Amino acid sequence: TLITCSQETIVIGLAADSGCGKSTFMRRLTSVFGGAAKPPKGGNPDSNTLISDTTTVICLDDYHSLDRYGRKEQKVTALDPRANDFDLMYEQVKALKNGIAVEKPIYNHVTGLLDAPELIQPPKILVIEGLHPMFDERVRDLLDFSIYLDISNEVKFAWKIQRDMAERGHSLESIKASIEARKPDFDAFIDPQKQYADAVIEVLPTQLIPDDNEGKVLRVRLIMKEGVKYFSPVYLFDEGSTISWIPCGRKLTCSYPGIKFNYEPDSYFDHEVSVLEMDGQFDRLDELIYVESHLSNLSTKFYGEVTQQMLKHADFPGSNNGTGLFQTIVGLKIRDLYEQLIANKATARAEAAKA
Ligand code: ADP
Ligand code: G6P
Repeated sequence: TLITCSQETIVIGLAADSGCGKSTFMRRLTSVFGGAAKPPKGGNPDSNTLISDTTTVICLDDYHSLDRYGRKEQKVTALDPRANDFDLMYEQVKALKNGIAVEKPIYNHVTGLLDAPELIQPPKILVIEGLHPMFDERVRDLLDFSIYLDISNEVKFAWKIQRDMAERGHSLESIKASIEARKPDFDAFIDPQKQYADAVIEVLPTQLIPDDNEGKVLRVRLIMKEGVKYFSPVYLFDEGSTISWIPCGRKLTCSYPGIKFNYEPDSYFDHEVSVLEMDGQFDRLDELIYVESHLSNLSTKFYGEVTQQMLKHADFPGSNNGTGLFQTIVGLKIRDLYEQLIANKATARAEAAKA
C-alpha cells in the first residue's frame, strides 16, 4: 500500500489582552520551532500575520466584524463579541486544520479599517492569538493546546505606562482612563477564557519587596492543567509535592531581592493543576542553568536548552524573570506535543494501512 503523508495542522490558541506580551511570546515560540516568523512576502504591509517554515501566527483582530468607526458608532469595544465574526473565525480555523487554504480578512491597525483579504495556506502549526481564541465553543474545540496570559492589573498598568507614556507620549490620566474603560468588557469576555486554558501564565507584583509598586520585579506563576493529552507538566524536584526553593545561597549568589521558587499541586476553576512559581529575577545566566538543572519534564532536546533559548533572546522583555522562562518552557512543551501528535497519527495511519 502506498501511504500518502497528508498535511497535519495542529492549532494553538493564545489569549491575552492587548499589550500583555503576546507578540513577545510568539517570537519565543517560533524560535523554539527553529526560525523567526516574518510577515508574508509581497502582501499587505499592514498584515498581522507571521509566517515561518513550520508556523503561521494569525491575529484574531482580523475577525473584527466592526471596524474602528463601526465600533464607535455602535458604542462597542473590540473586546465585545458583537464586534467580532466568530462564524467566520470558526470556518476558517476549521478549514486550515483540515488542510484547506483560506482568504482571511485583514484588520488594519493603522487605519482601523478592514483591508482586502490575504491567502493563508495551512501550516504545520497554526497559532491563533488575540482577545478571543477560547471564547467561541466551536473554535475552542479545534484547539490542540491553549494558553492564557494573565497579567494582573498592577503589572498591566506598569507596562502600559512604560509603553504608552514613555514611547507614545500619552498622559498618565489618559492611560488610567483607557484601562478603566476596557475593564468591564475585559472582565466579561476576555478574562473568563482562562478557565479553558491548558496553561496559564500569571504575572503578579513581587512578594519579595514589601509594598512594591514599581512593577519591575515580578512573581510569575505557570499553571499547568493535569490530564491533558501529550502534555506533562514541568515540576521541581519531586512531582506532586509542595516545594519552596530559594536557589540563592552558598552555590549561587543573587542580588537583592533574590529569587524564590514554589511548586505545588492545586486546583484551578474545577480542574487539577500543577503550579510552578518564580518570584524575583536573574542577574546572570549561570543562575538560570542552575535552576534549569533542577527542573524536570522540560521537554528539552539537550541539557541547557532552556538557558540557550533565553540567552539567544536576552534582549526580549522578560528575559531575566519568570515571564521569559515560562514562555520558553511552554514553547518547548508545545514542540513536544506537536511531535507526539504527529508520531501518533503516523502510527495510526500505518496501522490502518496494515488492516
Ligand atoms: P501584545 O502583542 O500582547 O500587544 P507585546 O509583546 O507587544 O504585547 O508587549 C507589549 C509591551 O508590553 C512591550 O513593549 C513591553 O513594554 C511590555 N512587555 C511585554 N512583555 C513583557 C515582559 N515579560 N516584561 C516586561 N514588559 C513586557
Ligand atoms: C485591536 C486590539 C484592541 C484595541 C483595538 C483598538 O482590536 O486588539 O485591544 O482596543 O484594536 O480599538 P479602537 O476602537 O481604539 O480602534
